[in-house]
Order: sequence, then C-alpha cells, then structure tokens
Amino acid sequence: LQHLLTTEGLPISILRHILDTAESFAGVTEREVKKIPLLRGKSVFNLFFEPSTRTRTTFEIAAKRLSADVINLNIAVSAQSKGETLLDTVNNLSAMHADMFVVRHAQSGAAHMIASHVRPDIHVINAGDGRHAHPTQALLDMFTIRRYKQDFHNLRVAIVGDILHSRVARSQIHALTTLGVPEVRVIAPKTILPSKVERLGVHVYHDMAQGLKDIDVLIMLRLQNERMVGASLPSSEEYFKYYGLTQEKLAMAKPDAIVMHPGPMNRGVEIDSAVADGKQSVILPQVTFGIAVRMAVMSILAGN
Ligand code: CP
Repeated sequence: LQHLLTTEGLPISILRHILDTAESFAGVTEREVKKIPLLRGKSVFNLFFEPSTRTRTTFEIAAKRLSADVINLNIAVSAQSKGETLLDTVNNLSAMHADMFVVRHAQSGAAHMIASHVRPDIHVINAGDGRHAHPTQALLDMFTIRRYKQDFHNLRVAIVGDILHSRVARSQIHALTTLGVPEVRVIAPKTILPSKVERLGVHVYHDMAQGLKDIDVLIMLRLQNERMVGASLPSSEEYFKYYGLTQEKLAMAKPDAIVMHPGPMNRGVEIDSAVADGKQSVILPQVTFGIAVRMAVMSILAGN
C-alpha cells in the first residue's frame, strides 16, 4: 500500500490487516508503553486545511508513539495566504525531507492530487477531502464495531443523518460492505440523501421507527451545514423531533445496540445528551481506537 486515499475498492485482506495491526497497537496505547521505534527518523507532516480536533490530534499522537518527527503546518500563517498553490506548498515540504503527508482539505480529490504528484517514496493519507472520503475514520469505526460485536457477518448497521454531505458515511459504507455486513441501512430525509444511494448497496429508510428495527449498530451523523449550499432543510428543532436519537428512539433498536458518532456532535440536533453520554454509547472509545488505527495505517504504509 503506497497511499491511503479511500476505502472504496480496498481489498478485504488489507482492511483486515489494518484492523489486526491496530489490535496489536491498541495494547501499546492502553498500556504504559509509550513509544515504539517503527517510524524513527521519519517526518510526518500534518496538513490540515480544514478544522479538526480528533483526526489531527490522534494522527499526531499516533506518529509520536511510532517515534516519528511530527510537523503540524499552521495553515493560517503559512505562505498559502500569500497565494502559494497547494502543490508548491507540498513541493517545498517535500524538499524538507517529508516522508508522509496527512492531508485534510475542503476540496474532494485534494489528497489524490497530492498523491499523484509527490515523489514515489512519500506516502499520503487522506484525513478527509470534501464530501468524498475519510478512510481512517471509517477504519476506526470498523475497529470499534469489531471490538464490540466481534463479527461483521450477522450485523444490521444503520447510518442516520446527513449522508449527502458526509465523507464519513461514504467511507463507512464501502468498508462495511467489503467486510461482509449483510445489511447496511441509511435513514434520512430525502433532502440529505444522495440520489441513487441504493447503488452503494444500502437500504433506504426515511422513518426512524422502521429503520431502527433490529439494528445492532447505529451511526449518527451531524448536519454538515458548512457543505450545504441552498439545501432546503428543516429547523434544528424539527430535525431533532424526527431524526434526533433519543432514548425512546434508541429503544426501537436491539437492546444491546451500540451508538456511534464520528464527532463533532451537535447535541440536541442529531443526538440527545442522554444517549451520547449513555451506557450504549461508544463514542469516546471510537476516539481512543483512532490512535491505534492511525498507528497501524502509518506503520503499514512505511513498510513495517
Ligand atoms: N471525525 C472527525 O473527523 O473529527 P475531527 O473533524 O475533529 O477531526
């Protein structure tokens, strides 16, 4: 694997290899062993052209646990503000002996463009590009599901909310179907579902009571207002009434269903605090598992 840009088309063998490798690193992150030398002498550049709390920080922790040098480019005070192009920025950082770029960008395809441009010894990881893909988020979600449910082959998974603007949902759907989940549902109003979404192999529901029946895993998504241009949306109160996950709606799923959310959450819009902080929520473990999964991805790309 040279780059990690998407989960679409990623073979099941690679998905499993990443999850298994992450499992071995999860021990390292949970115990007091702080560092292993797999990336010693390597430089990892975090290039976040969009805001991030979880992804940027866990990539930094993961790279440091692998003994890499980590450089967080401060985009706001970089020469981008003087008109430097993305590729010129990348060329200059490559000249500083970068080994890996972790890229988040508002434009779909930005990470692909960088990957097709850099020297062959540099690895590029997509940390979220526009509406397109967020592969490491999907991988840590798969890791979380496997931790709590063990096997993918007997699960019903529901992804609820703004599928249309969600790079996370797209990457999750590709990973879930490749790993053999027999039934992936999407639940949302028509206005925030992509047309022909069924082509991704999902079942479409517009009603929470019907869509949550017999569900093992619920993945809640926020309304991505920053990517909505001219969309006709209900108010937050109206959205919460029909699609917000409350204890009452959660009771429509299986009693041992887990509740996931990639973050950031909008409490009182797509999820009620009683659920987000409740005993079926695995939202914070997802964040913790992100460290091990990102260690696994970087370590595999670096050839370990
Ligand atoms: N899930 C996710 O990508 O969160 P951040 O935007 O905080 O990185």
